[in-house]
Amino acid sequence: MGNVFVFDHPLIQHKLTHIRDKNTGTKEFRELVDEVAMLMAFEITRDLPLQETEVETPVTKAKAKVLAGKKIGLVPILRAGLGMVDGMRKLIPAAKVGHVGLYRDPETLKPVEYYIKLPSDIEERELIVIDPMLATGGSANDAIHSLKKRGAKHIRLMCLIAAPEGVELVQKEHPDVDIYLAALDEKLDERGYIVPGLGDAGDRLFGTK
Ligand code: URA
Repeated sequence: MGNVFVFDHPLIQHKLTHIRDKNTGTKEFRELVDEVAMLMAFEITRDLPLQETEVETPVTKAKAKVLAGKKIGLVPILRAGLGMVDGMRKLIPAAKVGHVGLYRDPETLKPVEYYIKLPSDIEERELIVIDPMLATGGSANDAIHSLKKRGAKHIRLMCLIAAPEGVELVQKEHPDVDIYLAALDEKLDERGYIVPGLGDAGDRLFGTK
């Protein structure tokens, strides 16, 4: 079964509290999500492999380390996932970015991909699927299936907040996928919102209602 990591860094938790606050306006909400994404990028990349190199400092030559060049792909799920991409890219500028847009057909209940555009070499990349709110887990589950169908081999899922129901679904369907969160909340309400959550992440990021 995949691991679940909840990042309890004080800066992440402090900023998340302001993100949750219903009085936080769109501009500040967007900035805070961007900052939390950047802090989460720092944590999520902890296990990236390094290799030895040499550097000449103003003082002497020295052995040093650089990233071993593992290729990363970010895959935000439209539309709320977009809010975390820039923060991630500030720390991982070489990452390629794919996009997945999908909805569930209300009659057949089957996922319908209305948009998908991915880097051509996804099978070689460590893919980080970005879905800020893991509620029922339906979208993340469907997106991960889509990526696997297209050859993806290494996938992680990054969310701001998850409900236990979403974590359970992803762990059941994708035991190979680790999940990275800023918070694991209590439950879903009858409308499918995460409780206590932060409301609709897409609406709050983009100022829609
Ligand atoms: N999507 C959101 O944006 N918020 C929720 O609480 C659940 C799903």
